[in-house]
Amino acid sequence: KIYQASTTAPVNIAVVKYWGKRDPKLNLPQLLNLSNSLQADLRTHTTAACSASFPASDSLLLNSSPQDVTGARTQACFRELRSLRAALEASDSSLPELSTLPLKIVSENNFPTAAGLASSAAGFAALVRAIANLYELSSSPTELSRIARQGSGSACRSLFGGYVAWQMGTKDDGSDSLAVEVAPASHWPTMRALILVASAKQKKVSSTSGMQTTVATSELFQRRAEIVVPKHMKEMEKAIKEKDFEAFGRVTMMESNSFHSTCSDTFPPIRYMNDVSWAAVGVVEDINRKAGKIVAAYTFDAGPNAVIYYEEANTDIVAGVVKGALGSVSGWESRDIKPQASDVL
Ligand code: DP6
Repeated sequence: KIYQASTTAPVNIAVVKYWGKRDPKLNLPQLLNLSNSLQADLRTHTTAACSASFPASDSLLLNSSPQDVTGARTQACFRELRSLRAALEASDSSLPELSTLPLKIVSENNFPTAAGLASSAAGFAALVRAIANLYELSSSPTELSRIARQGSGSACRSLFGGYVAWQMGTKDDGSDSLAVEVAPASHWPTMRALILVASAKQKKVSSTSGMQTTVATSELFQRRAEIVVPKHMKEMEKAIKEKDFEAFGRVTMMESNSFHSTCSDTFPPIRYMNDVSWAAVGVVEDINRKAGKIVAAYTFDAGPNAVIYYEEANTDIVAGVVKGALGSVSGWESRDIKPQASDVL
């Protein structure tokens, strides 16, 4: 007999960035952070199966190629989920013993892997949720976020759609470092995002090693941790609550700039944005100048790709103009994303 369950999880893009760990093993962040999920289009679809008839060791296929599952991050997720299932089995002897069976996981991304499009976030969130479904665990998304975080920090936010905050927590074991929903995507139905793929190549500096070096060498990071991020989190939560796009856009852009500045201030410096990324910044500035207010906002993660937020009513003056202006800049490929309600998760 083969037991199986499937799910999907969205890519999420941080509008207040996570960068810096207080515990690299548990992926405990030094700072609060907040994201918006881009779920309609960019997703990982994962099926988790287990059976006594499978080969003895666990396996994972991503876009049809076998992945190493022996790494500490994947192992931590498997271990945590198995122990929750084992507890369930211990409390109800009528349940089949799935916790000891080998797992076979099959995942598909519909976007380039590891190009700064937060693929590890959607990947680990879908993996954790699929196994939780297979094991029929009653855990809430917040409870599962504790496990997904150990796969990749930003993955804890991909268990939700909409606007999600990741609380840094204070406990050493990370049990209070969890993702919570700030607002569902349906709270702000006119919000739109455009992804500009500047390069689908794998990034040169992984987030994990990049953030370790930043914490160790950048003094600007200290200021970011103490002053900038707490301020941005407060402003961002208010902007989302009030659906104030100008405030949302201003904080989103200043956050991205602050994050990439600490990357430049890292020694040796880290450079994720390239000339094509800066061309996108220029186009957004032009659009906002012409509109006389903030109608478009860019943000960049650990890669050169841009995410541009705007409201539906401004589609022509933002998405239309961005595509027109960057059409002449080589290397861009664009996709429209409409964040949707969290119930599609
Ligand atoms: C710039 O979550 O990929 O996208 O915890 O080491 O897996 P690990 O790092 P990861 O870092 C994401 C960094 C970021 C900002 C963000 O998503 O908040």
